[in-house]
Amino acid sequence: MSSLSDRQRSREDEVLRGNAKLATTASTRGTLTRLLTDWRFTSRVVRYLAHLPVRMETEDRRVLEEVIFPYFATLPTMHSMLFVGCDWYTRHYRQTYFRGKDYWTIDPAPGQRKFAGKQHIVGALERLDEYFPPERFDLIVCNGVYGFGLDTREQCERAFDLCQSRLTRGGHFVFGWDDVPARTPVPLSDIEGLKHLRAFPFPPLGSPRYVTKTAYRHTYDFYRK
Ligand SMILES: C[S@@+](CC[C@H](N)C(=O)[O-])C[C@H]1O[C@@H](n2cnc3c(N)ncnc32)[C@H](O)[C@@H]1O
Repeated sequence: MSSLSDRQRSREDEVLRGNAKLATTASTRGTLTRLLTDWRFTSRVVRYLAHLPVRMETEDRRVLEEVIFPYFATLPTMHSMLFVGCDWYTRHYRQTYFRGKDYWTIDPAPGQRKFAGKQHIVGALERLDEYFPPERFDLIVCNGVYGFGLDTREQCERAFDLCQSRLTRGGHFVFGWDDVPARTPVPLSDIEGLKHLRAFPFPPLGSPRYVTKTAYRHTYDFYRK
């Protein structure tokens, strides 16, 4: 039987290759083979079909779900939030972590709506002003979007400016990204929009930046308005 770290490593390989799929998007033949040979995969598919939480088994996801989400979910000032970019492994986030909060999701790809929260916008982060007024959210989480569609300098500048303006005073911005050349299309140090937010030493991790122990150096940056 493979150890947890073996499983994590193979999941990280899949993520690195941009191939971390559940049965929702994998090829039919590949999925069938895996369903018959990989009981862990089968149990995950069954859980997904039963609308139970299905977690991506990587270290960066553990940090997001076990450290970052609980901190913000219990913060007395956190009432409304925007989660940017949806996929099969984020479908349960509202129910599991942010039940009772004013939880919104946004993603420009119409097909991602099936993974979204009840309150969802089909649209891009760099067009946030078309959907929400200033000072709308106490928390914006933009994880795995930079380098996955939010790619040009213009997009990034506009998106981060709009995040800043859509945050309430004292609101939080969590920015998760892979610190590898293939996923850093524009140097982040050049993006002016991020400079309008203050670095926030995130109490549970003791720093405004946390680099996870993953092959793709998934990094969380914490900011505050
Ligand atoms: C790798 S998934 C990340 C999903 C999730 N946010 C997470 O925590 O991993 C990237 C998602 O970001 C979406 N996306 C790409 N460009 C975007 C943009 N400009 N604004 C908002 N979402 C975008 C894609 O459609 C895709 O569903």
